[in-house]
Amino acid sequence: MSHFSYRNGVLCAEDFALPNIARQFGTPTYVYSKAALLENFGAYANACKKHGRDENSALVCYSVKSNSNLAVLNLLAKQGSGFDIVSGGELLRVLAAGGEARKIIFSGVGKTRDEMRLALSHDILCFNVESTAELQRLNEVAGQTGKQAPVSLRVNPNVDAKTHPYISTGLKENKFGVAFEEALDIYRLAATLPHIRITGIDCHIGSQLLDDAPLLEALDKLIELIDRLTQEGIHIHHLDIGGGIGINYNGDQPVAVGDYLSRLFAKIDAWRVATHNNRPITVLFEPGRSIVGNAGILLTEVQFLKHSPAKNFAIVDAAMNDLMRPAMYEAWHGVQAVNQREAKAIIYDVVGPVCESGDWLARARELAIEEGDLLAILSAGAYGMTMSSNYNTRPRAAEVMVDGNQAYLIREREKVEQLFALEKLLP
Ligand code: LLP
Repeated sequence: MSHFSYRNGVLCAEDFALPNIARQFGTPTYVYSKAALLENFGAYANACKKHGRDENSALVCYSVKSNSNLAVLNLLAKQGSGFDIVSGGELLRVLAAGGEARKIIFSGVGKTRDEMRLALSHDILCFNVESTAELQRLNEVAGQTGKQAPVSLRVNPNVDAKTHPYISTGLKENKFGVAFEEALDIYRLAATLPHIRITGIDCHIGSQLLDDAPLLEALDKLIELIDRLTQEGIHIHHLDIGGGIGINYNGDQPVAVGDYLSRLFAKIDAWRVATHNNRPITVLFEPGRSIVGNAGILLTEVQFLKHSPAKNFAIVDAAMNDLMRPAMYEAWHGVQAVNQREAKAIIYDVVGPVCESGDWLARARELAIEEGDLLAILSAGAYGMTMSSNYNTRPRAAEVMVDGNQAYLIREREKVEQLFALEKLLP
């Protein structure tokens, strides 16, 4: 298998022995690199260390929704990662993968009573509460189970993350978090609830941020709120700035994680000395995409080349059900032919077999390919497999993790029979 080498942070076809993987595991298949995952997680972990933080004063809570394969979670758990979850299902996944409950934070606007009970029974690190109604429900459920729920309020700092509207979450009009102006009152309420223990404050302003300025602006807002809470005798033990750092999809130049964390810690340290009486505060992060996005590709095989008067189509065996991002956000993913051909490259739309015009993976790409060739769809490690579906009764792709010279199957390709195994005919 080829050596691991990066091109501006993008893992490319050459980084894997893709023909062997296709032969062994078939296509479409998600292929991840263990080395890239570790390097990307290490960027966070090392920056925390560099700024004098240990496990108690900084915690990276990997955002499970970006890629929730057990092997990925297990690898990160072994690096000491915590986890940001948004459902009871993700909680059970993290535990099954060997993650520690005391490092789990639970985000999401719609936690059910059952999910609250489950999380309370495992003594997770905290609930990121997103509304007053949720706070009251959590107080009630915690009371029934004889526990005190550790709570952080997700505050909406109303800063513009300057990213795609579907993945921007920190503006007033979003459904997420509580308004900055209301946060103080909700904390006051939380302080009176017997089964709630206030532990932190959090925000998440959006995803695929290339610049850290909006994040640092959000940090200022959170700090302002912490100061006001402290004055009222409400103590905040952790500050969670969320995830959101972007990756290079199409020549994008995201801020380096180390640089962002340096600026963030510098601000926090200055504030602690100046106005926080040097009191300790634990810093939490919830990165997803910046850890897995460019650690994976989607490997697919060209089924047909179709030349119509208006366009050329490369019809491949991966589709929108495997990688939703282009159909959903018009997202751009690099496409690379695995084998170089001498033939002249022509312009193709790379599309899947699903019966929807929205079923495309890439548009207007110059490719020299023939039927049966392999393509690598790049930067597909985050929000790829986790957003996949069985539309058109298509079994979901296999997942493979490459570790040095070995490729390991970390999720079998689904079998069609499994897709309707839960269905029943009428009597
Ligand atoms: N924390 C919270 C509360 C979140 O909602 C998210 C992502 C994250 C952390 C992780 O953000 P990241 O570091 O990955 O940017 N499906 C979309 C992205 C949706 C992001 C949802 N929230 C996409 O494919 O681009």
